[in-house]
Amino acid sequence: MKVLLDNDVQETALRADVLAGLTAPRKWLPPKWFYDARGSELFEQITELPEYYPTRSERAILTARADEIARLTSARTLIELGAGYSTKTKLLLEALPLTSFVPMDVSPSALAAAAGQIADDFPGLAVHPVVADFTEHLGELPEGPGRLVAFLGGTIGNFEPADRARFFTGVRGVLRPGEHLLLGTDLVKSPRVLVPAYDDASGVTAEFNKNVLRVLNRRLDADFDVDGFAHVALWDADAEWIEMRLRARWPMRVTIPAVGLVVELAAGEEIRTEISAKFRRGGVGKELAEAGFTLDRWWTDPAGRFALSLARAVP
Ligand code: AVJ
Repeated sequence: MKVLLDNDVQETALRADVLAGLTAPRKWLPPKWFYDARGSELFEQITELPEYYPTRSERAILTARADEIARLTSARTLIELGAGYSTKTKLLLEALPLTSFVPMDVSPSALAAAAGQIADDFPGLAVHPVVADFTEHLGELPEGPGRLVAFLGGTIGNFEPADRARFFTGVRGVLRPGEHLLLGTDLVKSPRVLVPAYDDASGVTAEFNKNVLRVLNRRLDADFDVDGFAHVALWDADAEWIEMRLRARWPMRVTIPAVGLVVELAAGEEIRTEISAKFRRGGVGKELAEAGFTLDRWWTDPAGRFALSLARAVP
């Protein structure tokens, strides 16, 4: 397994994020720190919750369109960003005329499990897992020929608009004209559907959200009282994104020795832990065009909840 993001690099990045986020006037932590081994497992559980429709919706689209994706792209190399356990990716691996598969993720445990399984299931396929942060290591993507970059699950929604633009431009920068990006985006819909997807009845998403505090406790020797926080999911109708937050139930003083920080939280004070933006066709087409892609296909599931875009790099 190729490791562009070793423990030292991750540790430095985690410290910088914690320092920046927890000293800001409105506290925040980036969502990538959810995904230690436990966080990656909790996310897998989320994908099976009755309320969490995105995974099922995207799988339905992939099932219906995998052959069409194969025909339109003739991809030989599939690069999957934020691959996790690559559960849906098998639909593409079965349909595409691939010689190599490059799953990229920040979680080595999820990657190793997925890569081993896929190598067993697809004997002719060269599998090259890379532990990397796709916001930083796009320049290290392997050479072609015929590459398809897949960014599935709606993870693009974790980026703020400016970061999204940077990301699309970055992906376009490593592709040659004619190569493709396959992008999964969750769509704007009623908060009656959206909010429960991020605040499920069984409390798995709450555990996932709080896991970031456990990560800080373990990796930075912090002393967050995890049960002192409530899980909050709300729909921001102006920004058209879901926000997850952790709300302190009572006043707290948290020490984070590894960064020399003492954080004071008032009762009710919140830490933003994730945005999950929801999209519309027009916006996706525009953002991709601005980055040098043309939107070749836009597919949704029958209920119109989720979309898969096939974008082609243009000269
Ligand atoms: C993995 C980023 C696509 O935003 O829906 C699920 C993460 N957060 N439940 C999403 C998540 C809370 C998920 N992504």
